[in-house]
Amino acid sequence: MTMTEQHFIPKEYKISKEKGQVTWESPSNIALVKYWGKKKHQIPENPSISFTLNNCKTITTLSYSKKESGNDFSFEVFLDGEKKDDFKPKIKTFFERVEAYLPFLKDFHFKIETSNTFPHSSGIASSASGMSAMALCLLSLEKLNNPEITDLYFYQKASFLARLGSGSACRSIEGDLIVWGETKAVNGSSDLFGVKYPYQVHEIFKEYQDTILLVDKGEKQVSSTVGHNLMYEHPYAENRFKQAHENLEKLKPILESGDLDQFIALVESEALTLHAMMMTSMPYFILMKPNTLEIINKIWNFRKNTGLHIGFTLDAGANVHILYPKNEAKVILEFIKNELVVYCQNEQYICDQIGFGANQIKE
Ligand code: PMV
Repeated sequence: MTMTEQHFIPKEYKISKEKGQVTWESPSNIALVKYWGKKKHQIPENPSISFTLNNCKTITTLSYSKKESGNDFSFEVFLDGEKKDDFKPKIKTFFERVEAYLPFLKDFHFKIETSNTFPHSSGIASSASGMSAMALCLLSLEKLNNPEITDLYFYQKASFLARLGSGSACRSIEGDLIVWGETKAVNGSSDLFGVKYPYQVHEIFKEYQDTILLVDKGEKQVSSTVGHNLMYEHPYAENRFKQAHENLEKLKPILESGDLDQFIALVESEALTLHAMMMTSMPYFILMKPNTLEIINKIWNFRKNTGLHIGFTLDAGANVHILYPKNEAKVILEFIKNELVVYCQNEQYICDQIGFGANQIKE
């Protein structure tokens, strides 16, 4: 039986607590098979799978206080202690989208205090970690009223709500490998929320490394909303969506056996396909920078010369995520420092690795 949105609409309830606060930290994630293209209500056109990250996180404290029930949302936002009014429209849209599932939203005034562990405007998407942290904080309020809700329901609904904030955010609630988007390739997969990858995964992936090279920290040329919309009327869209299902199927034996050569081939092809979709849409975009290509070529040469299992992936931007197994980290990190960091803005890079999802921080 397919689950529908109805599953997440609670019975009418009022929260009796007058005020309080809740804090969650939630990580970013990096897709191996990419989500690009969506339908209404943030339903993905194709399935995706990601590694949850460990160090790149958003920490959000939500303080709530009862107000005279009004007709509008009431909230203020702070980033690193400073008021951020330019975040408000995005959060308001998020509130509008989740209100049906969190009926108390207009009964409270909220103070949202947020910070990231990675440099601000580093070009790293903070929407996945930010929206998932926000969703978890709000759902903790529902839990106050309904302490008996199960962990399964809590995590599914948190992912469901995060998805309405930013699609890929639904893959940040748990770890270490999360699938989002209904596909025959993965039992239990859903368009509505992320699920843990349910099959056997080789040990080598348990401590996989992701070093993120910050090539270009500038404003995104294309917002992901605009990007997703370019998949409407895109001449290659149907094939691309089909390919994502196939790649998820192909990934299963690779994840099980730990065949890193095949893993790298699939993941790099996915990254370049994502960029190929942008280059072949109308209007078209090139989000890679010359240094992105320098880095990719250096990685390929180094891999050829050493036989080490270094590979890359890209998001919708110029930064490069370098993926490799922990047992090869020493030599690969040396290579990154000696040969790749020169291509980064201000020589900035972030060392991360696969992680296990969000955590509530108790006072
Ligand atoms: O979550 P959004 O709407 O910002 O889309 C992000 C899409 C990619 O990061 C490019 C790919 C992915 O699956 O994360």
